[in-house]
Amino acid sequence: MNNFEFFNPVRILFGNDKIEKIGMQLNPTDRILMTYGGGSIKKNGTYERIKAALSNFSVFEFGGIEANPKYETLMKAVEVVKKNNVDFILAIGGGSVIDGTKFIAAASLYEGSDPWDLLIKNIVVTKAIPFGVVLTLPATGSEMNSGAVISRLETREKYSFGSPVLFPKFSVLDPTLTFSLPPHQVANGIADAFIHVMEQYMTFPSDSPIQDRFSESILQTLIEVGPQTLKNPSDYSLRANFMWSCTMALNGLLSTGVTTDWATHMIGHELTAFFGIDHGATLAAVYPALLTELQEPKHEKIIQYGSRVWGLSGADLTARNVINKTEDFFRSLGIKTRLCEYGLKQEDVAPIVERFRTRGWKLGERKNINHEVVEAILKRALEPYRS
Ligand code: NZQ
Ligand code: ZN
Repeated sequence: MNNFEFFNPVRILFGNDKIEKIGMQLNPTDRILMTYGGGSIKKNGTYERIKAALSNFSVFEFGGIEANPKYETLMKAVEVVKKNNVDFILAIGGGSVIDGTKFIAAASLYEGSDPWDLLIKNIVVTKAIPFGVVLTLPATGSEMNSGAVISRLETREKYSFGSPVLFPKFSVLDPTLTFSLPPHQVANGIADAFIHVMEQYMTFPSDSPIQDRFSESILQTLIEVGPQTLKNPSDYSLRANFMWSCTMALNGLLSTGVTTDWATHMIGHELTAFFGIDHGATLAAVYPALLTELQEPKHEKIIQYGSRVWGLSGADLTARNVINKTEDFFRSLGIKTRLCEYGLKQEDVAPIVERFRTRGWKLGERKNINHEVVEAILKRALEPYRS
């Protein structure tokens, strides 16, 4: 096991009575900015519940944070923070609102000329306005981690950044808030959480059996609960287990002491930046191709995963069968797993390969994924699904 430090200060408030108790987490004099997305919280009653819970506080609002939050929009929220001397932000939404809020929190106190530099210049973020979260879409784990992914409309770029000062102070996980999710967002969330685990687990053996079993337990839970929660959207227990699986998939625990991959995410971010494909869906389209392309260096873990997670054995326990099982799981959720199903062609992905070439990135746990390997992965992802 590699040496590591593990720190996660996020207070999780889990359950269907926690919104009403948010006030107990706040300072009575706080000037609070509620941040949210395009309006789902107003349709499903979450907005009213939160307004009631904050009735004794000074509250400001910034709505309209879009999926894959845009720098251009978030900078308008920074103005609202500065104008109203906001000293706490409450993010209400999925990964996009939470990530957007992390950026707003950091950009509001940034002393340089352009906060976009936080994303592209590896600047260490040392100050941020404190913030809390009410999660409405289980998927990204952003509610319990300190990272964020921000896009820029003008340049069609999508970059991540993070800092220990960007952990939420608390996160409310109320499974009832997810009952109104459209099925494709639930499916995206299952795929995203699944791939988060795989990025930290599907590498090479590193004498880390406890981390392996944490990962396998989350994968098995998602395989068990995912399809059921899609069919029964108002089943509290299924949503609760789905929600907690997503949070646990990316809160720092699984990556302790192991070497991680993250190439699927890096390629997926470009597919979102260029073609607007939902984050979880990009991962489902890249991952089967990536596993196929890298099945040799990942062979030992593919076999362990096939045996422990999918219960394959004997002659059935082949890398091909394991990869097919994984792809078919995503398809069973209603997600496309091939880029041609989005109408993409070889020439469409060429600019992505070019970006990786220019950046000179070497991705993956073995740093063996350069732009040529990215090209080979995308070529496979463009092939039609086996009939
Ligand atoms: O905007 P509203 O109207 O609220 O609608 C949203 C949005 O259109 C809707 N929604 C959310 N909760 C709902 C709901 N609709 C009905 N009922 C509810 N309860 O869902 C749509 C998608 O929301 P979004 O927040 O974009 O989805 P997700 O949580 O999948 O977040 C995706 C973003 O997170 C980033 C992605 O790159 C992407 O930008 N990620 C963040 C990570 C992190 N911070 O650790 C890691 C991930 O790998 C990921 O990259
Ligand atoms: Zn993700």
